[in-house]
Amino acid sequence: MNVAELLKTTTAWFRDRGIETARLDAELLLSETLQLERMQLYTSFDRPIDPAELDAYRALVRRRGKHEPVAYILGEREFYGRPFAVDPRVLIPRPDTEVLIDEVLARLDAEAEGVVLDYGTGSGAIAITLAAERPALKLLAVDVSPEALIVARANAESLELADRVGFVRSDGFARVPERFAGQLLAIVANPPYVDPADKPTLMADVRDHEPGLALFSEDPLAHYRRIAEASATWLADGALLAVEVGQGQAEDVAALFEAAGLVEPAVRKDLAGIERVVLASRPA
Ligand SMILES: C[S@@+](CC[C@H](N)C(=O)[O-])C[C@H]1O[C@@H](n2cnc3c(N)ncnc32)[C@H](O)[C@@H]1O
Repeated sequence: MNVAELLKTTTAWFRDRGIETARLDAELLLSETLQLERMQLYTSFDRPIDPAELDAYRALVRRRGKHEPVAYILGEREFYGRPFAVDPRVLIPRPDTEVLIDEVLARLDAEAEGVVLDYGTGSGAIAITLAAERPALKLLAVDVSPEALIVARANAESLELADRVGFVRSDGFARVPERFAGQLLAIVANPPYVDPADKPTLMADVRDHEPGLALFSEDPLAHYRRIAEASATWLADGALLAVEVGQGQAEDVAALFEAAGLVEPAVRKDLAGIERVVLASRPA
């Protein structure tokens, strides 16, 4: 068996199991096994696979066959050009969330100084990316899940940003230190927003493997309501609120923000044209 043959049979096997990204996944898992860049596979089609490599590859392929996400199998996902360690304790950061980052960076210039709070930090993707992109910012990364915070802290350390990203285990704002009241330059959030009633419609990869605490909210707008209400307490005058929302939620979330006294609501679409990010500010 050589590289080309193995990729072909694995792709067919994945397709039979309803895996949409069959060829890509076969390549990612094989490049991991052989410790090659994915593109190097294309110049190694005739390379024979030895029995030890085949065993190692098959173990990964079997996991993917059970719809375990590739990012968990590899233990890593790239977000905004940086590698983040991920495992089942955290949501896998999504490209959609990069739109939220773009919008926040467009509003906080390169010299922006102050503290930004990331509500529901998960892997730390948002907080750590903002710290990396804006060297004068400090980030307060909040999550209710102690397991997620272990992963996020490790990511901050491996990306050498732990000195500017602090972590707090907190249900919402409950344990955010009082000294930040009225001081935050921005609150950013990608909170859980999936209605548990929609669970059967989710892809098996997500439904059966990613943490329910990161996905579901009994009332899908509850976190937005909570964040909007808390914004008056925590944001400085003129400061920014920026959140990712689920499909069809943007209008309701913008209305919640206005009802909470926030101004200049704006909505941005993701790459698929879905309204994905809602922004607003505290009056100046
Ligand atoms: C959709 S994930 C987002 C993870 C990460 N920010 C990202 O964008 O990839 C939502 C996160 O909110 C956290 N979370 C859920 N309920 C929370 C609460 N009541 N207070 C704080 N964080 C919460 C979950 O543990 C999870 O890490």
